[in-house]
Amino acid sequence: MAEKITLVDTVKKDFHEELMSRIRSVVDPEKIDIVVSLHAEMDHSGCLPQVIKEVKPSKTYSSIVGKETLATHFYEPEIADIIALPDGSTLDLGNMQLEFLHTAMVHWPDSMMGILRCDGVLFSQDGFGLHIATSQRFDDELPLHDLERAAAAYYANILLPFAHIMTKATTKLKSLLPDVKMIVPSHGPMWRTNREWIMDKYLQWSAQKPTLKAVVLYDTMWGSVDKMARAIADGMAQGGVEVRLMRARENYRSDVIAELLTAGAFVVGSSTLNRGLLPTIADKLQYVKGLKPKKKIGAAFGSYGWGGGATKQLEQQLKDIGIKVVADAININYVPNGDALGQCRESGLRLAAALKQHCGVPDSRL
Ligand SMILES: Cc1cc2nc3c(=O)[nH]c(=O)nc-3n(C[C@H](O)[C@H](O)[C@H](O)COP(=O)(O)O)c2cc1C
Repeated sequence: MAEKITLVDTVKKDFHEELMSRIRSVVDPEKIDIVVSLHAEMDHSGCLPQVIKEVKPSKTYSSIVGKETLATHFYEPEIADIIALPDGSTLDLGNMQLEFLHTAMVHWPDSMMGILRCDGVLFSQDGFGLHIATSQRFDDELPLHDLERAAAAYYANILLPFAHIMTKATTKLKSLLPDVKMIVPSHGPMWRTNREWIMDKYLQWSAQKPTLKAVVLYDTMWGSVDKMARAIADGMAQGGVEVRLMRARENYRSDVIAELLTAGAFVVGSSTLNRGLLPTIADKLQYVKGLKPKKKIGAAFGSYGWGGGATKQLEQQLKDIGIKVVADAININYVPNGDALGQCRESGLRLAAALKQHCGVPDSRL
């Protein structure tokens, strides 16, 4: 433990008591000398004012933007007294030094990380986090496959819009790896074994290189679009593409973007409801758009009764997301018959070929 005992970040307001009791299990809170806020979002700072009042540290620190951001969250005098640390600052903790690296947009403009070189610890706040809570504290106590799924979902939902920044930040952090023996994020287990692996995953996800995987997202009222989605998915699978068929109302938004992170194609279907999209589809597309996935191709399909409208809106929304629409929309009047489903299967095959071309993979069927 540092001579000047230091608390890095707090927790959501409702977990204040649990935080204090966990601190008490290792040290008398009154012995804490310094409090550091690495990130102003309320899952890190929600009980910061209360903790400062109770612990009475000699000093509390944040980044420069962190001080401004905390000052627009909390209006207690303790927050106004926070000392802002410029990028590259070092705090003397007596027997060790805590260095700071500003990492704007990993996850908010105020975000920074802390490095304790003597023990090789990187306090990475939201970087390399996972939304899983287990009794296992370290990465090597959990199956790597579970870690990968959770880390990808976290990255896709929290950090994907800043992928270009993540590439730069991760490259910089990777250069510290010889000194970093443990990455301690504010969410999920600590990385002590797969440190380089998780950084390489971040570089891979940030690059968003398209793969031979497609997400077919759809919804339906009476089953027509469901039949079409399955036929398109069959065609794509037959064409050599790994397909995730996701009905919008049965999947969370966060699961759709997590699957999309490692996909090269996004194919979306909706029936026409009152001249527009099914709300479950509109919801998912709005969410995906905000997370700015890149380098994907796509297409739209749907079923209508009279004037239609859904597929036109789908195509526009795919373009707005930044997806390259590579095929004309398939529009079927009411319930698809055998011919229509054959058309969907053929379209799936053509989309698979287009995806292969997009990925630079030769199509043996051509
Ligand atoms: C409440 C409701 C509203 C609809 N509104 C429209 C519409 O505005 N324009 C249209 O072309 N079809 C409309 N339809 C017809 C559906 O698009 C059509 O039945 C379609 O085949 C449904 O496909 P699904 O079973 O995959 O949902 C509507 C159907 C329902 C039930």
